[in-house]
Amino acid sequence: MLGSDYQLDQSKAPFLEGLIQYSLDGIIPFHTPGHKQGRSLDAELREALGELPFFLDVSDEISSPSHENDAVAVLKEAEELAADAFGADTTFFLHNGTTAGIQAMLLAVRQWAAQKQLDQGFSQEGIGEVLLPRSVHRSVFGGLILAGLTPRFVQETWDKEWNIPLPPTTAAWQEAVSQADRVVAFFDTYPNYYGIGGSLDEVANLAEKRDRPLLVDEAHGVHFRFHPDLPPTALSLGAAASAQSAHKLLGVLTQASLLHTSTKELSALMPAILSILQSTSPSFLLYASLDAGRRQMVQEGHRLWQRALELAQAARESINRMPGLHCLGEEILSKPETGFWDPTRLLVRVDSLGLTGSEAEAWLRQAGVQVELAGLNHILALITIGDGPAEVGKLVEALRGLAYTHRHQVQGRRAKLPEPPMPSKMQLSPRQAILSSWREVEMIGAKGCTAASSLTPYPPGIPVFVPGEQITAESIDFLEECRQRGIEIRGWADARRETIWVVDTD
Ligand SMILES: Cc1ncc(COP(=O)(O)O)c(C=O)c1O
Repeated sequence: MLGSDYQLDQSKAPFLEGLIQYSLDGIIPFHTPGHKQGRSLDAELREALGELPFFLDVSDEISSPSHENDAVAVLKEAEELAADAFGADTTFFLHNGTTAGIQAMLLAVRQWAAQKQLDQGFSQEGIGEVLLPRSVHRSVFGGLILAGLTPRFVQETWDKEWNIPLPPTTAAWQEAVSQADRVVAFFDTYPNYYGIGGSLDEVANLAEKRDRPLLVDEAHGVHFRFHPDLPPTALSLGAAASAQSAHKLLGVLTQASLLHTSTKELSALMPAILSILQSTSPSFLLYASLDAGRRQMVQEGHRLWQRALELAQAARESINRMPGLHCLGEEILSKPETGFWDPTRLLVRVDSLGLTGSEAEAWLRQAGVQVELAGLNHILALITIGDGPAEVGKLVEALRGLAYTHRHQVQGRRAKLPEPPMPSKMQLSPRQAILSSWREVEMIGAKGCTAASSLTPYPPGIPVFVPGEQITAESIDFLEECRQRGIEIRGWADARRETIWVVDTD
């Protein structure tokens, strides 16, 4: 985006400026937080962080005479600047991550459906459906539970080569649409953790034809707006709302995210819904970092992402020259599942070295680098605006060391890896399952029961069953296989006894 494309004065950062001014005004605070601008801190904490961050750590007060020192008014201006920068109708600063944004989108769409009186039945618990891929982030299931909506899964492809889920094809969305008659919304993850996005424009068309909103988890796409070699944003492809983890990729503090809406109806619902989901004591440091991160992107985003793109491409080429390693490249765009791809992600297969992703991750950690995630046969490293040639060079050298150390194992173990089973029947909505009475059973004997919680192997981090879903022999076998391979499974009632919560049907 060019500076001239913005409507507002993007050189301003009113929230950051107001917060700095409050600390400079020398006001003696008789309000929360209790550390009183860092005056009462544990010595080790003071040593580690210094007092400065605490000086700016408030959750109510700000100095901005032009806004009559009203923090709500300053926040409104900062959010308007963000909406202008990100191409949204309205933008909301989030202080509980994209998790809160996803939950808010689902609650808002339930309210939207009620207002539209789409179907009398939607007012009943769990009747309305949301079309979505199974590999969505777990916060989506939290949102469905809160909103009383039921998932209808769109079939996605499991990529056996990379051992990752690929986005559903447009044909799979069409198939799911044709089978569903109680749909209130479409929900997609764009891009996925590996930087791969489906043809979101086509999904948006399908949603529009059904007169339903497309909601997007864009946790990994906050930078898309600021460089033409990155994929287009979800909003530009037709999403009605999207949530972005600004903290994951920009110069922004952890937990700070953005929620964008592109329709007046959803924009109007969000303030009331967000007030249910988020703390009443937002960290103003998070808000100030969002304000500054937005300004930085408008002013310098193109240059910064250009550098990240170049560093990532050079690293990819180096890695692909190392025997036994393979880094995903733009060939992914030739797959029918892929519409868009983010080249700043380095997804590297390590199994030709006879290693699992976790083994490679541990080796690299010893060599002084920590990757974002490890899968069964790969590791994922993120290149962002915070990386320079020195950091990326260190990553490349560590990978060279990994390849050299394991060179005798090249073409070694390339075991067949387990594939997550297909989703099974939803017996209840996730909310009904959560609100039912539960009993604890051993996983091994749970076939036919209705799950009351999710059980998720990490990696790949996709729930094998979710609340309300029938537990099948295939899901138990898959979990057994994961367990035998030493893959961590999360969501046990009691991990030691390998028990789970199921709905008590007696
Ligand atoms: C795809 C995806 N969606 C949503 C989230 C939740 O984002 P946040 O950590 O900002 O709450 C994550 C976090 O890892 C994610 O990977």
